[in-house]
Amino acid sequence: MLQNIKEYIYNLEAETLKGFGPSKHLRSVFKLLRQNSNAFSKKNINKVYKNADNQHIEKNLKINIDKLNLNNIETNNTCNLNCPMCDTLSSRRKKINMELSNFEKVIIEAKKINSKDRNIVSLHSVGEPMVSPQFEKYLEIIAKHKFKLSLSTNGLLIERKINILKKYSHIIDEIRFSIDGATKETYELMRFPAKHEKLIHNLEIFTKENKNNKYFKNVKMCTVICKSTLPELALHYEVYGKYFPLNNMYFTVLNSLAPTDKFFKKDSVLGKHVILNNPCSAIFGNGHHVMANGDISPCSRDYHGEIIVGNILKENFKDIVNNNKSVDLRKEQLKGINRKGLVCETCYIINPKIVTLLSFYIKAIRINHIYNNASIAKTQKKFEQFFNLFEDKFATVDEYENLFDFKNVPTLNY
Ligand SMILES: C[S@@+](CC[C@H](N)C(=O)[O-])C[C@H]1O[C@@H](n2cnc3c(N)ncnc32)[C@H](O)[C@@H]1O
Ligand code: SF4
Repeated sequence: MLQNIKEYIYNLEAETLKGFGPSKHLRSVFKLLRQNSNAFSKKNINKVYKNADNQHIEKNLKINIDKLNLNNIETNNTCNLNCPMCDTLSSRRKKINMELSNFEKVIIEAKKINSKDRNIVSLHSVGEPMVSPQFEKYLEIIAKHKFKLSLSTNGLLIERKINILKKYSHIIDEIRFSIDGATKETYELMRFPAKHEKLIHNLEIFTKENKNNKYFKNVKMCTVICKSTLPELALHYEVYGKYFPLNNMYFTVLNSLAPTDKFFKKDSVLGKHVILNNPCSAIFGNGHHVMANGDISPCSRDYHGEIIVGNILKENFKDIVNNNKSVDLRKEQLKGINRKGLVCETCYIINPKIVTLLSFYIKAIRINHIYNNASIAKTQKKFEQFFNLFEDKFATVDEYENLFDFKNVPTLNY
């Protein structure tokens, strides 16, 4: 509830400052309220820099089952696209839709396992949830069991499915549109074989139907940063800013989520900081993925089902996550090796410390863009400064601090 009120105020604030809000007069009120605090003070930047160093993954051989979370259910591993960074088509797992009775069993299990405040499921691992002909039926089951949905979508089927989404808007906690590329050329490369015009058409329909957040309050956009999208990151604010509140537009770095690391090797930014994903937060984590046939894998990148540890339709989920196969995966990881010949061998990430520093810095860029009406060119320059600085080295705290040369950027918990 409190979170909803906060989100509402931030949205109102961001929209007002951008001039779309209900009252332009609120602009000065918001600015006044914020001007005494600065989240991007030297002290805070130092703290973030120091904390980035302190991240660690608990490396226990057994998961604490009291903290288990069953929230990733792959209803279908089919997709209307084949984005090169994801490459669903190369998955060798049989393409299926989860049977409805099995989906209900999984939701009932999730109800038993998850704490009351974690009654949310997402419907993808590899695949586009709205492609499934049973999409509406899954939503009906989620609603029947008073669960909520966090939907990640490429957004291209909105026109066809908008009535279903509206009908079940009461259970849709958030909708996240995955959109990479602010120009037609980059978008169509990243989201192959989608057409940019079709995306815009769908976004127009969604925005019109959802006027004043009538159905969906929490609408986000997520963009992957890679060599192809980097030159136009700031442009995303301009092109998509009329469909999404700017404070709900997120950037994440490309990882090697795909059957091979081919695209990642070619297109990853910050190449010097690419490391083998070990220890892996999925293997040591509290959430596992339920695949469309009920198989359980710790990993969302398990395209061929190579590290399946059990099947939720035949075994108890709590037993699966700590069975011999699961523990063996963790034991191997503790030796600092990732299984040869399997998906883990080519699983790379960018040093999480840098990713933390980048996320914090992007908040400042976005707020500066909103508050100070920074132009797209200037905003883009600020994005690039980070990547230039970290290109060859790990920047010092002073160098990192120098990036934040924004004027009067106030605190916002965006
Ligand atoms: C695999 S998709 C499935 C849901 C839906 N089809 C979509 O595109 O949102 C889930 C998320 O993973 C992201 N993703 C795919 N490949 C990625 C990669 N190599 N690195 C980082 N994120 C990736 C997508 O952009 C999307 O936001
Ligand atoms: S990122 Fe989403 S839309 Fe693109 S291929 Fe993967 S599952 Fe499909």
